[in-house]
Amino acid sequence: MLNPRQRLRPRLPLLGDAPAFRQDLLAALARGRFEQGDVARYRLGPVEVYGVSSPEVAERVLTDSDTFGKLGPDNPLRLALGDGLLTRSDHESWLRNRRMVAPIYHRRRVEAMYTTMQECVEEMLARWDAELAPGAVIDLHTQLMHVTLDIVSRCMFSTPMISADSALRPESVEYAVTYTFLRLQNPAAPPTWVPTPANRRFGTIIGGLDDLMATMITERRQELAAGLPGKEDLLDMLMQATDADTGDRMSDTELRDEIITTLAAGHETTAITLTWAFYLLSINPGWRRRVIEEVDTVLGGRPPTVADLPRLPLIGQVFDEALRMFPSSPTVPRQTRKPVRLGPYDIEVGSRILIDVHGLHRNRRHWPDPDVFDPLRFSPEGRAGRSRWAHLPFGGGPHLCVGKQFALQEAQLLLASILGRYDVRHHPGYPVDDRATITLRPRHGLHVVLHPRIAPARLTPALPKVA
Ligand code: HEM
Repeated sequence: MLNPRQRLRPRLPLLGDAPAFRQDLLAALARGRFEQGDVARYRLGPVEVYGVSSPEVAERVLTDSDTFGKLGPDNPLRLALGDGLLTRSDHESWLRNRRMVAPIYHRRRVEAMYTTMQECVEEMLARWDAELAPGAVIDLHTQLMHVTLDIVSRCMFSTPMISADSALRPESVEYAVTYTFLRLQNPAAPPTWVPTPANRRFGTIIGGLDDLMATMITERRQELAAGLPGKEDLLDMLMQATDADTGDRMSDTELRDEIITTLAAGHETTAITLTWAFYLLSINPGWRRRVIEEVDTVLGGRPPTVADLPRLPLIGQVFDEALRMFPSSPTVPRQTRKPVRLGPYDIEVGSRILIDVHGLHRNRRHWPDPDVFDPLRFSPEGRAGRSRWAHLPFGGGPHLCVGKQFALQEAQLLLASILGRYDVRHHPGYPVDDRATITLRPRHGLHVVLHPRIAPARLTPALPKVA
């Protein structure tokens, strides 16, 4: 959020709220909420934007797809993601692909990916054990960005994909997402063919990813044609998914777009929320103690199995509360397909609606003391009587995040594994700041001091004594 000593840029005659949105999206939305209430009107140059921060109106927007559609074909995110589920604007073809992709993320199939997820986590922890002295300071956010990309790409291709010379690296994906977001905020950005440094870098990143995806898809098709056994990973499942009406499978272009969408949508969001969860536990020592107690009681120093996760309710509640306070998708956009009235406004076709998820999660009518970290808001008693539309980190309605189960399983595994093995505390010498782009990143990462909680000897089986 905005530094309190800094002033939010004023509305300007031609540009409207665009300078304030670019300076600090969350502060600009907060100003709108304060001045106008649950439905607030903004202007970004010639484009009208309406912010929605009440559960009732959010439910209406997210469930009425005839009136509120995804952004149109000019959505800059499509430059990176193509026509994957997240960016497809045509409802009919989106529905066809959603029906093909959704079964891949059913609970049973996500549970089958647990072993791959755990391999990635254990490799990261083994690196820490080997390379970090007690009391070492690391940027935890960078580590989490790496491990979450490792997880989703290994679940996709069954092989480690990230390396310094690979086209797939957390910083490349992060750059591509930020680039497209800045274009969304700035309708006057130079066209993509102008050889600005930003356009050139984006072009190189996307070109590299396209080549890599084409190679992976071609190799897999060849393996299948040669009668080699399937790998039962996400790529196999996407290739085998069939349209229930026609029996058709996805084309190579559709596969490329769904793979890139999964890699982009499926790693940074989880990494960011985990980073905030560790930060919140770090500044709330009472909660940190309770969570560690839960982890130690259930796991006693061993890595968590998939069957352990339901026995770690507080871990899940911490993640839900981190998603409330710092939703990694702080806004969810829509575009009006019909004229409509929202709050006091008659809204024209083609206007942009932003579900102001961050504002909604701090709405005092639904969240007492919204700035206080309290995971018990998500215990069964804490949830009772609260609208399901008051907590929208994964969106809602037909476009509800298809990877929600994947994200929750991965997050619980990471939180329990790290907290069981390491004492993690924010280093006060490094500032922490949120920066809202498409996701709500900690601007300077999260520097933490790490102390191993378990001597490595307890983790490895004892060697037989030599007489
Ligand atoms: C904490 C982690 C995550 C958060 C906060 C999150 C958030 C969201 C949100 C808010 C949406 C709705 C967008 C809209 O309505 O326009 C969404 C959609 C989507 N998410 Fe996630 N997501 C997360 C993890 C994942 C993971 C792990 C995957 C894949 C493995 C994934 C894949 C997708 C896809 C493909 C869509 C588009 C769904 C559709 O429109 O049919 N997400 N996500």
